[in-house]
Amino acid sequence: MSISPLKPACDHDHSEAHSMPNRPRRLRSSDAMRRLVRENALSTDDFIYPIFVDEALSEPVEVSSMPGVFRQSEKSLSDLLKKVEAAKVPAVMLFGVSAHKDHEGTDSFKKGGLMDRMVKRAKDTCPDLVIMADACFCEYTDHGHCGPLDYVHNDVDNDRTIANIARQAVIAAEAGADVIAPSGMMDGQVGAIREALDQTGNERTAILAYAAKYASGFYGPFRDAAGCSLGHTEGSKIPSNRKTYQMDPANAEEALREVALDIEQGADMVMVKPGLAYLDILYQVKQAFGMPTFVYNVSGEYAMIKAAARNGWLNEEIAMMEMLLAFKRAGADGIITYAALDAAGYLSR
Ligand code: PBG
Ligand code: ZN
Repeated sequence: MSISPLKPACDHDHSEAHSMPNRPRRLRSSDAMRRLVRENALSTDDFIYPIFVDEALSEPVEVSSMPGVFRQSEKSLSDLLKKVEAAKVPAVMLFGVSAHKDHEGTDSFKKGGLMDRMVKRAKDTCPDLVIMADACFCEYTDHGHCGPLDYVHNDVDNDRTIANIARQAVIAAEAGADVIAPSGMMDGQVGAIREALDQTGNERTAILAYAAKYASGFYGPFRDAAGCSLGHTEGSKIPSNRKTYQMDPANAEEALREVALDIEQGADMVMVKPGLAYLDILYQVKQAFGMPTFVYNVSGEYAMIKAAARNGWLNEEIAMMEMLLAFKRAGADGIITYAALDAAGYLSR
């Protein structure tokens, strides 16, 4: 063994160590060093907080499958919005829970209906928040599908749905919504909304397209919260799932085509939904289009962490923040998440 002048004066063989110029652990050696080289960071600016407004309630009621999430009454919506603003979260997404359901979900596009009232109240209470209105019908139809049914083809009637959604978007825009977010995955819905908004002088209202939304098993708790489970189609040949309009979880290239269509039709921002099981899609969408790209951290993803934490199986803060950070790393410009207020609290410490 040759004696090197660099060799330490101990009897271990350090020659191996000295031939290892790359030691990534050097940059993990202290908290300050880790902060220095960190590539991504979460901020409250990244969050959009989803809120359920139930017109049948007079007090907030907790959603049992989503601990910490409450269905709001129209009145309590105002208090919650003030909390969101105080937490420096810039945006909310409003979902109506209707007590006036019918075949088409007409209450959602009536003046004085729930959509109209809840958006007005939100904008009046917090004019500086970005108010997003989820545009769909499943919370307003008596059968729970995202548009009126066509009993000839046993499916949701695409073109009737987009005619209705255009009206719903105008109601929401005129009530003060800054952003319309159509979530029904109907073909042509973004174009129909853009055209209707422009024709009614609402050119300034933006569209966040649920561009790649999958038929996912992770929406279960949301359907409890919004009262939009599919249960009233028994005895007919209407499918009791949303697979004829939401995407097949097996497909990735199709997501890029869906996003391209929505951009062509005038989407200002695009979304991938769900998040956790679709990080590959999120990454590809951001890379391919460079659009403001959002991800929906859906109810089931939130519920999994809450449930595990309650059992003592996961550290809630660490797991939640890790999940949210993963969306940023994959390319999200913003995250629609039920954890927005919890996360804002963690970030402000
Ligand atoms: C309805 C809608 C759903 C969600 C948002 N809008 C449910 C569905 O498509 O069945 C899911 C959100 C979540 O799970 O958090 N169009
Ligand atoms: Zn829907």
